[in-house]
Amino acid sequence: MERRTWRIGTSMACLLAGSLLAIGTMPGKASASDGYDLWLAPAHEGAAVPDVQVIGDSQTLQLAATELRRNLTGAKLPVVLTKALNPALARLRLPTAELGTEGYLVRTVMIAGRSSLLITGNTDTGVLYGAFAAIRAQKTGADLTKLDLISAPRIKLRVLNHWDNLDGSVERGYAGQSLWDWWTLPDFKDPRYTDYARANASLGINAIVLNNVNASPLSLSADYIAKTGALAEVFRPWGIKVYLSVRFSAPIELGGLKTADPLDPEVQAWWKAKADEIYRTIPDFGGFLVKANSEGQPGPRDYQRSHADGANMLAAAVAPHNGIVMWRAFVYAETDPEDRAKQAWSEFKPLDGKFADNVLVQVKNGAIDFQPREPFHPLFGAMPKTPMMLELQITKEYLGFSTHLAYLGPLYTEVLEADTRAKGRGSTVAKVIDGSLEGSALTGIAGVANVGRDRDWSGSTFNQANWYAFARLAWDPSLSATDIGREWARQTFGNDPHVVDTVVSMMMESREAVVDYTGPLGLAHLMATGHHYGPGPWVNDLARPEWNPTYYHKADRGGIGFDRTRTGSNAVAQYAPQVARKLADPHTTPESELLWFHHLPWDWKMKSGQTLWHDLVAHYDRGVSTVARMQQNWDSIKDKVDAERWTKTASYLAIQHREARWWRDASLAYWMSVNGLPLPAGSPAPQHDLAWYKAQSFPLAPGQ
Ligand code: GCU
Repeated sequence: MERRTWRIGTSMACLLAGSLLAIGTMPGKASASDGYDLWLAPAHEGAAVPDVQVIGDSQTLQLAATELRRNLTGAKLPVVLTKALNPALARLRLPTAELGTEGYLVRTVMIAGRSSLLITGNTDTGVLYGAFAAIRAQKTGADLTKLDLISAPRIKLRVLNHWDNLDGSVERGYAGQSLWDWWTLPDFKDPRYTDYARANASLGINAIVLNNVNASPLSLSADYIAKTGALAEVFRPWGIKVYLSVRFSAPIELGGLKTADPLDPEVQAWWKAKADEIYRTIPDFGGFLVKANSEGQPGPRDYQRSHADGANMLAAAVAPHNGIVMWRAFVYAETDPEDRAKQAWSEFKPLDGKFADNVLVQVKNGAIDFQPREPFHPLFGAMPKTPMMLELQITKEYLGFSTHLAYLGPLYTEVLEADTRAKGRGSTVAKVIDGSLEGSALTGIAGVANVGRDRDWSGSTFNQANWYAFARLAWDPSLSATDIGREWARQTFGNDPHVVDTVVSMMMESREAVVDYTGPLGLAHLMATGHHYGPGPWVNDLARPEWNPTYYHKADRGGIGFDRTRTGSNAVAQYAPQVARKLADPHTTPESELLWFHHLPWDWKMKSGQTLWHDLVAHYDRGVSTVARMQQNWDSIKDKVDAERWTKTASYLAIQHREARWWRDASLAYWMSVNGLPLPAGSPAPQHDLAWYKAQSFPLAPGQ
């Protein structure tokens, strides 16, 4: 499909500054903001309201028109919103077949003898997305009269997973309580639900899983179905369907059955009746998300059935209603002595081809758990007969919660661009999940949401960029992290080129900084227990071996790293042969993943010419100094950003700097206690001794 994506470079931004003034976008200080408006701040007061004509009477088209009236500035030509089947458009011979069910076309054309900005799509939702695309284009500097946008999403299901509990808490949530006030639903529909739907629709998110994957059976009770129905009603005109996480043993807890065995006819009948009940209230209900036999959750393995048996039973219940099942592959068992990184592949690969047509297998980006860096999950490309969804974490469980600035665009594109080599060169993860590699019709991507009731939704201004980046990549996984960052910065802080450049440069180095100060060179899972916040590489006393950081780094006097080659767990063999060969040799393994795959001596010679130990220390030091540079950069635009957002970000950067140093010092103190080596000259000694770092405790850290 032809796809033209409008882009703008830095130099063009300067040229545009004049025209931006003309259309009323202030290139000076961004106006006061508490962050509630996200990237959707309305046009400034007094801007001319455009002449928007709507042909059609759906609620969605009306919403699109309202958005344009509120946000477009200085439109000198009328804006016409209509679905593509409008006969008046026939003579224009527009390439509407390319748009599918959700794509849009925005172009200046002659309508009824007048030059008009046409926004069209094959569906109302497509038109709505087109309206938001036009607003985005204008806010990022485009000339409305020259707009020519054609775009259709490459992935069908663009999903946010809420890990929200029914009591209002959010697992791994760092932006306040859950948005959903289950207690007052369904009667009271908080206007914030609409604002949330709108923000998601502006980016093309079309699916929301409302509740935690560690699900309570209660969410399937009649009362809660009604509450879910009320949210579905709010979301519907914005093109968003609701989904629920379900607890596999709900037939026992809620239905009073003796078993949840997926092959038991009574269990099957219970789920079918439950699905019918849900669809009576919510005719466009999306389906189920399931975490089964993982971290203590019940599942089909409890009855010696496979994950496919479990998924297919649920799939059969929702199939008559066109529902789907997203079945997670995040499984590992304490009874399994195998390397945790291998377990999902071992369990799921043999099931390829055994899942029903309306099942997607949802796989985290890496084989462990949303670490600041992980190699791509070996299941991508390994199950050609199964639609695979990618699951990313937007909330920053392992990347500093809400306070650390870590733009995840580069993390997301790193996995999307990773080449599985499943069908030769170019078999990227993006192509696995957009269905183009194997021709799968059902495609999806999910992000674990980072929103809550904080006024700024995501706990910080920069965290909003991660929600934004996830959604933009869900629409088009070939977008670049830098372009997305730039687009977001312009809409968030205005088009002043110095502000945009500064913000984007901070964003683009931020994730690598977190990798550097928490776990460089492929180290992972080194955090303290429970809250996952600070460092704990020394932890080795937890009940299950694979919960202990020492399991992951295997540091001893002789060296550090997890041997996943043939002499170790041989996890490399789960990748396609070309990838496996590269990863089996430390000389050809990317250094960023070195210690994930290899146990190497401390004096291993790195590409820099330094020893592994010196290189490791240099990474920790670089992590801390990058944060210091981010602080300086932020200081340099103090008079160009509103005081409220500037001050909060500055305070958070100060926290991040202090904690980057903490991570570095604690980690180095521990590594030195293991290897007995001194720090290289010029690298400062840790501020405290190891005992001090070990004694830190945070029982009240959020998100647990
Ligand atoms: C991580 C996270 C849990 C979560 C789990 C999951 O382990 O710490 O809180 O439940 O991932 O993805 O299921």
